[in-house]
Amino acid sequence: MRSDEPRGLPRRSFVRAAVAIGGTSALSACLETERDRLGGENSAQTTSDESEPTFPRGDLDAVPAGQHRWGASLVRDSHGNTVPPQQLVAVGMTYEGSVPPTDDERARVEDALRLLERAFQWGTGGNAGAPFHRGLLFMLGYAPRYFDQVGSVPDGLATPESVLEAVGEDPAKADGYDAVLILTSDIGSVLLAAEAALFGEVDELNGLPVESTFEGVFSKAGRHVGYVGKGLPADKLDNEDVPEDAPLSMGYKSGFRDNLPSEDRVTIDEGPMAGGTTIASSTLRIDLDRWYDQGQEERTAEMFCPAHDPDDIGDTGDKLGGDSGVTESDAENVDAHAEEYGRVGHTQKVARARDDDFEARILRRTEGVADTVRDGAAFQFNSIQETMADFVETRKTMDPDEYDHDVPAEDHGIDDYLETLRRGSYLAPPREKRALPVI
Ligand code: HEM
Repeated sequence: MRSDEPRGLPRRSFVRAAVAIGGTSALSACLETERDRLGGENSAQTTSDESEPTFPRGDLDAVPAGQHRWGASLVRDSHGNTVPPQQLVAVGMTYEGSVPPTDDERARVEDALRLLERAFQWGTGGNAGAPFHRGLLFMLGYAPRYFDQVGSVPDGLATPESVLEAVGEDPAKADGYDAVLILTSDIGSVLLAAEAALFGEVDELNGLPVESTFEGVFSKAGRHVGYVGKGLPADKLDNEDVPEDAPLSMGYKSGFRDNLPSEDRVTIDEGPMAGGTTIASSTLRIDLDRWYDQGQEERTAEMFCPAHDPDDIGDTGDKLGGDSGVTESDAENVDAHAEEYGRVGHTQKVARARDDDFEARILRRTEGVADTVRDGAAFQFNSIQETMADFVETRKTMDPDEYDHDVPAEDHGIDDYLETLRRGSYLAPPREKRALPVI
């Protein structure tokens, strides 16, 4: 057996399988695979209780004040678009600490999170031009049910049940978690090691001793894993229709310079949680068979806008460069397009929810394919926005019932191909308040 192809799986598939499985044996196998390939040079000094790091260490002073401020530490493509890290895990957690939380519990959570920041660099480490994320990016968000237990719920954070109801879905699909921790990296073992350290499953993290964990404060209640990146869905999914180069399972890249809002736009600007953001987190099932029953032209029209020339978009959105091509007039003309083309596009519809400056209100950079559901692929969708109302307003524009024209649901963007399996709403406080906040 070659060390980079354990159990006969190709190396990339192996790492993704390990991230999906989780736990310490997956971690050691994954580390073995990635150490030589991705570890590399590291100038960190070690002391007596530390050992040599495998991956570059982080610097606490270099981590931004907003947990969601990842932009300066994300890889950029040649058009300046942000490229999301390939591996993603959203860990759902139950709060097991005191009500209200004690100073000691708060210190334990903060120390555990700081260890992640000391052990691994923040994303690319701020290295413009970095080809991949050798470090970790993460954010910890709290659900209304946590805030309700320990004090009061901050403005702007709606319950997941009310979000589901507002978008016409079953409230029973609401997450029961008290908190969610979203972790991403291009390196599976960085992500798995960070998770294992937080839950007390390893003694050291990239050579640093693990002295504080979430144990007794949070227990793990669920794990939602996704991956994204050119070629990965075709490689991994059992569906021959997915284009070879597509970064996501529906075939197109997602997230262009023009339609991802700035981090300031999605930051809470007043009140006790100023500097934080809200997280909409969901797992969706995608009916890929039905989606690919349609030709390339139909799919392109339904994903973007039927008035656009599919040749300008390209097979995977690759021809668009740094701009989705969707304009104010595309957003305003959905009815006219419905009449003219008999179909309307997802992107032009959601662009209707942009603000007065025609800036999108939700920031999507933690999306990924998951293959753990019945009948095809799932999708991990995690967006950040100032308030959950921004998410609800945006999500509602996808619903065919919100429109007066009578385009059939299957030709109305992508809504009809998606089924919500779970949905949660969380608030990620600013970094200085991220450990067991109380309002
Ligand atoms: C499987 C699920 C989904 C896929 C594959 C998908 C894919 C895409 C693609 C390819 C685009 C155009 C390119 C770009 O990102 O700029 C887009 C735009 C967008 N999508 Fe989705 N999407 C999905 C679900 C959602 C959901 C659930 C929402 C939530 C409301 C959403 C909100 C948006 C927004 C806000 C834009 C940008 C619109 C603008 O230009 O203002 N998407 N999506």
